[in-house]
Amino acid sequence: MGIQIRHAEDRDGHFITGLIRATLQDMESVGGHEVNQNEDFWRKYAEKIVESIRKGDRIYLLAQTDRSIVGFLEGKIVKLQEVFAHRKIFHISIVYVIPQTRRRGIAASLAEEALQWASGQGCHEADLNVLFNNDKAIGLYKKLGFNVFRYQLKKKLLPIA
Ligand SMILES: CC(C)(COP(=O)(O)OP(=O)(O)OC[C@H]1O[C@@H](n2cnc3c(N)ncnc32)[C@H](O)[C@@H]1OP(=O)(O)O)[C@@H](O)C(=O)NCCC(=O)NCCS
Repeated sequence: MGIQIRHAEDRDGHFITGLIRATLQDMESVGGHEVNQNEDFWRKYAEKIVESIRKGDRIYLLAQTDRSIVGFLEGKIVKLQEVFAHRKIFHISIVYVIPQTRRRGIAASLAEEALQWASGQGCHEADLNVLFNNDKAIGLYKKLGFNVFRYQLKKKLLPIA
């Protein structure tokens, strides 16, 4: 199966939104937050994604076969708060590969291309968040050379209605 990695275009906005929803659904199944099911919200979200694709401080990469899109990565250049020395950081928000084509190196290829792009943009570091129970993603990120930098802790206060 030949895979091509390409930058997203405006026309990909709706498909990308579907992939983001699929990712969040996967996250929910390994302990992530419950996903918003309001269709109106997601329609507006797709419009925002199209605007975001056009911005120069972020990258939307798609892994494509000759038939369909099978993987996706979203990343963004962020600056540290001003209390810290000036640094450009590349934050990977989402990596997703459809279940049928997993374990073929697609996520690793997407991430390597994105990290190369970020270096070219002058980013000193890359970071990301991963759920404690997401073994697949933790395996991926370790393989790419990421190390634990900090923990994010949470505690339940009120039951969800
Ligand atoms: C995590 C995910 C993106 C990996 O995609 P993938 O294309 O299958 O990953 P790759 O084939 O590039 O695998 C790269 C490495 O990741 C690790 N890995 C991937 N899948 C794994 C699994 N099921 N179990 C353990 N390690 C795994 C391995 O170290 C693998 O290297 P190897 O195959 O040489 O052992 C994919 O499983 C996915 O989309 N999951 C749901 C969404 C998600 O969790 N995204 C990440 C958080 S935003």
